[in-house]
Amino acid sequence: MKKKIKIAIDGPAASGKSTTARETARRLNYLYIDSGAMYRAVTLKALREGVPTDDEQAVAELAQQIRLEFRQDDDDTVLYMDGQDVSREIRSPRIVQHINPVAANPLVRQILVARQRELGREGGVVMDGRDITTVVFPDAELKIFMKASAEERARRRVAELTERGVKADFQQVLADIRQRDQADFSRAHGPLRQAPDAVVIDTTRLTIEEQVEQIYRLALQKIAALTD
Ligand code: DC
Repeated sequence: MKKKIKIAIDGPAASGKSTTARETARRLNYLYIDSGAMYRAVTLKALREGVPTDDEQAVAELAQQIRLEFRQDDDDTVLYMDGQDVSREIRSPRIVQHINPVAANPLVRQILVARQRELGREGGVVMDGRDITTVVFPDAELKIFMKASAEERARRRVAELTERGVKADFQQVLADIRQRDQADFSRAHGPLRQAPDAVVIDTTRLTIEEQVEQIYRLALQKIAALTD
């Protein structure tokens, strides 16, 4: 019987984590869980209900109540919040503007970390985020830390926006990425850290295909080693 492992992937914003994690999961026939989408959904719920995102208790209550369900579409993962597909809405810049107090809220983190652990309990998952290798699944069989220079990440983000027909200024995008790095690395609870036993992949000069191939091979090695 093939062992179903947990693959935890962390890295800064725009490091190509989600695309790589989703594609790796598809190749392994595993479930892909985008933990950032969960923080985004709680932020969206707070904005919709007029709850100030820095009200720790009130936002924690929303995190407790929120129903979140990931469903695998053909080539995408769809997130349902309280029964509604919010996959597009959680990507809007408005969410990013308000998300920091939500991601820094220790009560929200506790609630979402518990849900993430539950989703990965049986193995057979690829989960990406900021604290997956260190807090959510320190016991994951495969841990990856993806990094790329801020300039390269900004270049990719601009290319992605341009492709979608959205005008983007490189310097502005770079400044936003640096600001998000600052928030992610300095958070008191669940900061972005490189786990000591994580495999570090610098993607600055890699394509998505090359990143997926590396992680896929590592996963196959782990699975083979753990399967009798
Ligand atoms: O990966 P992303 O850009 O969708 O993440 C959205 C926000 O959520 C970002 O500000 C960092 C935060 N986040 C977090 O604090 N912990 C995670 N495991 C994933 C994301």
